[in-house]
Amino acid sequence: ISEIARVKNLNRLQIGKHEVDAWYFSPYPKEYAHLPVLYICEFCLSFFPSPMMLSRHRRRCTLLHPPGNEIYRHEDISFYEIDGKRQLTWCRNLSLLSKCFLDHKTLYYDVTPFMYYVMTQRDSTGCHVIGYFSKEKESAENYNVACILTLPQHQRHGYGKLLIEFSYELSKKEQKLGSPEKPLSDLGLLGYRAYWAETIIDLLLDTSDGELSVDDIAQRTCITHGDVMNTCSTLQLFKHYKGQHILCLNNAVLEKHQKQKAKRKRRIHPECLKWKPPV
Ligand code: COA
Ligand code: NA
Repeated sequence: ISEIARVKNLNRLQIGKHEVDAWYFSPYPKEYAHLPVLYICEFCLSFFPSPMMLSRHRRRCTLLHPPGNEIYRHEDISFYEIDGKRQLTWCRNLSLLSKCFLDHKTLYYDVTPFMYYVMTQRDSTGCHVIGYFSKEKESAENYNVACILTLPQHQRHGYGKLLIEFSYELSKKEQKLGSPEKPLSDLGLLGYRAYWAETIIDLLLDTSDGELSVDDIAQRTCITHGDVMNTCSTLQLFKHYKGQHILCLNNAVLEKHQKQKAKRKRRIHPECLKWKPPV
């Protein structure tokens, strides 16, 4: 029975003005499982079996942004911090929606141990969710991200990197090194590798005068030593020189880096983050 239940159930989802395919099984209530399209209120994330029921709901729903504190705003991008314990329904709805695009992660139906950092883009009709990450309130392993998602209609526009960059800005405020929860999905790993490489190379270029150790890089970026080491070995930055290991940027790496940077239009502006670690 559980085998059957785990087969991808929903086919498509309508979220705001977008309609997207579901990638994986998500445990929406049985009555919703076999609908061709599930209609989602993009603000409260409630779900409906028909466009009519959604529009009836939309006339009553007053939410225009995620139900939490806006802790960051730069131009049209805002981040909201939401406590899973205070916004059970909203966070459960977010989990259900994101499970449609996550294969391996257990669905955290228990949302209470997590904080949710939701990135929105503002226009005249409201603050539209682009993506989010969840973060354990207490992580024994010093994970700074549990789940991370860019809604499929917004993927490959650099928002994943923006979410990751934001997660490390929170770690800087906490003065803790952090790493995403394992295992990462294939897409998650691609996104993180791209972010780590970009961040480490930027730092090396910024400090071309002095020597930077792996520990210096970790302390300055809040990327763990393991993730720094892995990134530098993957990029083949370690060179033997007079009996020592040094970090050395080669032309191929530099060229790729310049191309990535040219594409990256949006950045997190740390001065716009108004946040203290929750106690
Ligand atoms: N194919 C190849 N590379 C990809 C890729 C794809 N489909 N998607 C992302 N990447 C790599 C690229 O290097 C990309 O940089 P580039 O576009 O400049 O080449 C980099 O990742 C970051 O891309 P970006 O646009 O910033 O990320 P995104 O908004 O698409 O979000 C994820 C990345 C992982 C958040 C998104 O793919 C996602 O939500 N996946 C489903 C959920 C998931 O698996 N989450 C992680 C596990 S918890
Ligand atoms: Na994106």
